[in-house]
Amino acid sequence: MKSFKISSEFEIFDSLEELPDNVISLMQKTFEARDKAYAPYSRFQVGAALLLDNGEVVTGSNQENASYPSGLCAERTAVYYAGAKFPDARIKCIAISATSLKKPVTSPIPPCGACRQALVEYEVKQKTDMEVYFMGESGAIVKAKSVKDLLPLIFDNSYL
Ligand code: THU
Repeated sequence: MKSFKISSEFEIFDSLEELPDNVISLMQKTFEARDKAYAPYSRFQVGAALLLDNGEVVTGSNQENASYPSGLCAERTAVYYAGAKFPDARIKCIAISATSLKKPVTSPIPPCGACRQALVEYEVKQKTDMEVYFMGESGAIVKAKSVKDLLPLIFDNSYL
């Protein structure tokens, strides 16, 4: 039997002010986006903002549904919109923040597994890494240099 190890490294910023200026602006866009979330069931509001290499910023928020699985996370709402509107642009960076109407969200909220898979598809497509920054409504911000650091054993088109 052989084994292998995969390790990922993340950076942690204690406050927004520690982030690069363009990421602070991107994170602020997630605050605006999450106010537009449609989350009457979970009351958990997520905002995502993508910075594209053409300078455009695309935002999204979670959109829920009475038939729960029909809803969509903020990250996928944003990434699919970016893919539909700017099919040739590369995504340089995604910022994510979350708040809850039920309790304070003070720890960083990472993208769910399904969103990681959706995001990595675009990383593979564009052949460049996408930085991922995520936080709650306050507190620390975590940075991953690539979606692959969040989803190390990816399933991609090389298997098809
Ligand atoms: N949600 C997101 O928007 N992104 C994630 O990565 C995790 C969860 C949303 C989905 C649902 O509307 C609510 O948060 C509670 O799961």
